[in-house]
Amino acid sequence: MAKVAVVTGGGSGIGRATCLALARAGRDVAVLDVNAGGAEETAAKVRALGPRALPLTVDVSSADSVATGVARVRKELGPVAILVNVAGIGEFAPLMQMAEAQWDRMLGVHLKGTFHMTRACVPDMIEAAWGRIVNVASVAGLNGGGPGLSHYAAAKAGIIGFTRAIAQEFGPMGITVNAIAPGLIDTPMIRTAGAPDELYAAVVKRTPVRRLGQPEDIAVAVAFLASDDAGFTTGQVLSPNGGVHTS
Ligand code: NAI
Repeated sequence: MAKVAVVTGGGSGIGRATCLALARAGRDVAVLDVNAGGAEETAAKVRALGPRALPLTVDVSSADSVATGVARVRKELGPVAILVNVAGIGEFAPLMQMAEAQWDRMLGVHLKGTFHMTRACVPDMIEAAWGRIVNVASVAGLNGGGPGLSHYAAAKAGIIGFTRAIAQEFGPMGITVNAIAPGLIDTPMIRTAGAPDELYAAVVKRTPVRRLGQPEDIAVAVAFLASDDAGFTTGQVLSPNGGVHTS
């Protein structure tokens, strides 16, 4: 029986590429997203590679929605062995113009979403004495990102702290927990932010590998951390960023 992976935000960008990388590694994949159409499209691509796929409409910021979704995964695919928290939103908001609701939503999706998903999936991993959790943070969680990103950077830094804490809590139970901190990756989240083409050219120019990151650059890193062979790697932050950020 293939191990079951749950990927949040699997309907687009990095989440979709992650679902496909895990499918290529032989995992069955539950694709969770608020965007039902995106999740279904990803699930069809997973099935085309061979493994089973289950698209589910889940809002990770809601404990009820997460509980219902994970219960369906368990019933239809089996116990959860791998959890990848990718779901996220992007937004620029200068601190003094930010509404409290914007702060709450940013932390609700990224940080609380990671909290809800982890608590819903971990019992299966404890039962199996094996599990892999990979949380997608951001270089913004390490360096602050820039003006207008205080809520995003705080959420992502929170994910890194959460990752390191639960790596210590669950290590003795056979569960590894790691974070990925991507640099700029060419996805719908970035393209819909409306940045001018010159910005991309400027980013490429100061990137040592001289190209934009692609969702697959992150998916291969997740696939490694979720692999059977990665059992001695836990509590770490891996930052695929083309060499822009070296600390
Ligand atoms: P994307 O917009 O292509 O994908 C994000 C997915 O998350 C979408 O399918 C969206 O519907 C889903 N989502 C949003 N809110 C949700 C919720 N409450 N519940 C369930 N699903 C929800 O964006 P992208 O770029 O693939 O981002 C994925 C993750 O990578 C995010 O956490 C983002 O912060 C992070 N990241 C992205 C970087 C980039 O440059 N694209 C850089 C560093 C981190």
